[in-house]
Amino acid sequence: MDRIELLKKKREESQQGGGASRIESQHSKGKLTARERLHFLLDEGSFEEIGAFVTHRSVQFGLERQKFLGDGVITGYGTINGRLVYVYSQDFTVFGGSLSEAHAEKICKIMDLAMQNGAPVIGLNDSGGARIQEGVVSLAGYADIFFRNTRASGVIPQISAIMGPCAGGAVYSPAITDFIMMVENSSYMFVTGPNVVKTVTHEEVSSEELGGAMTHATKSGVTHLTAANEMEGIEKLKALIGYMPPNCEETAPRLDYTAGDETRTVLNSIVPESANQPYDMREVIEGAVDTDSFYEIHKDFAENIVVGFARLAGRSIGIVANQPAYLAGVLDNKASEKGARFVRFCDAFNIPLLVFEDVPGFLPGTDQEWNGIIKNGAKLLYAFSEATVPRITVITRKAYGGAYDVMNSKHIGADLNFAWPTAEIAVMGAKGAAEIIFRAEIKDAADPVAKLAELEAMYNHEFAHPYKAAERGYIDEVIIPEETRQKLIRGFAMLENKVDTLPRKKHGNIPL
Ligand code: HXC
Repeated sequence: MDRIELLKKKREESQQGGGASRIESQHSKGKLTARERLHFLLDEGSFEEIGAFVTHRSVQFGLERQKFLGDGVITGYGTINGRLVYVYSQDFTVFGGSLSEAHAEKICKIMDLAMQNGAPVIGLNDSGGARIQEGVVSLAGYADIFFRNTRASGVIPQISAIMGPCAGGAVYSPAITDFIMMVENSSYMFVTGPNVVKTVTHEEVSSEELGGAMTHATKSGVTHLTAANEMEGIEKLKALIGYMPPNCEETAPRLDYTAGDETRTVLNSIVPESANQPYDMREVIEGAVDTDSFYEIHKDFAENIVVGFARLAGRSIGIVANQPAYLAGVLDNKASEKGARFVRFCDAFNIPLLVFEDVPGFLPGTDQEWNGIIKNGAKLLYAFSEATVPRITVITRKAYGGAYDVMNSKHIGADLNFAWPTAEIAVMGAKGAAEIIFRAEIKDAADPVAKLAELEAMYNHEFAHPYKAAERGYIDEVIIPEETRQKLIRGFAMLENKVDTLPRKKHGNIPL
């Protein structure tokens, strides 16, 4: 056969994965194939495959008679909206997408290229785990990937999409990456599956319940994003990557923006008259940032804090905001971890941080204390304190107690701190404060209830406003809500060339 014809035949063969019947079986489960996923993820015609003819080297269990070109993973590079990304897509039609030595080497090769060339890696996972026939060689392959994930952390963005099974130690590669996206009803992640769980703990649990998309979106917080189906998930990945720079030395792409009237009167009427009435902080976020630019991360987990990307005058920013509509916006274990992780991503990749603050404090209780609110709250404190990107805070209402310090206060390095006239900045709420400092006075009063109300009003008058903090310079400016967007645009523009460095060290020791 002509050599060129031979090459063409091999190319064709490599396109076929595990064969037509297996592809059909994949489709019948409502799943796309590995190649189709890449087709929809990348700009048309931009994909360049690497290692299409790689095969496994197993000589046992009949595997030596069964080889598929590519060995269950398609690897290479391409572009998303013209920007370079490295990709791998596991092919379930070949040995269930299981990871062999050769399969792992292919993933490592593109990870190495991504690191050397400073561009993100997106992994599309759909795999039965370690190639059982290969034994320890396959485990070694996983470890090679975990090692690279860790070394690449903070250097290039790493994103994992879970499109099928992801079980056993295989979960630890996505876990080290920056963002995980799971597809509802067709993907799952767990360290030990339902059968082992049943044997060990006698619990009856389905795969979906144990490690499906909604479980990880709401209970564990393992996944940052979910999608109703694969196409929606792919669109979400494409949008997500648009907020990030290609590596830690660069800044995120900026969209064109023509300045106009930046007054947003809608912001004037969001905070209710009564300090105890909830409101949705997303309305504040959406009122302040570029139209339809808010991209929420971890939406269904620890809803008392809202985090996500947005654009402000075309520039990519990261937002961390207390959510008064859920648990009054209190900080608890989960919210602290969620916030801290997001702050660290933004800081690692030069994405400025914007904080909207309305927080009554840390959540009290044995559950919180015993589950480590001390160390978890410290994570958020540490993450903000360590961040050297431009940082702005807007206090919309409450800023009480330690939470005032933690939520990007001036004292821990924020560059600009604004407060709305509705801001209340104090050690604690007026009632609790009056009960403690005027205990004797209240007890001895002829009408203790009336006395408490009087002293509460006095404390409120004294502290439930932003002016004491502004006198000290802890608040740079008290602003009318409608001015917020203008102030933020100008503030971040002013901070664009900020240079701040941390003391020389190997690395810090965040309270994990
Ligand atoms: C080799 C595998 C495989 C594996 C699946 N296949 N998993 N081959 N190694 N790990 C093969 C099957 O034999 C089958 O081949 C084809 O892939 C499709 O699998 P099915 O079972 O028919 O598919 P489905 O019914 O959809 O079930 C998918 C599955 C199941 C739930 C993932 O295949 C499964 O339980 N696989 C084993 C999972 C596992 O225990 N993996 C090891 C985990 S430990 P044929 O030729 O029949 O089509 C681990 C450690 C990592 O991963 C540690 C890192 C530190």
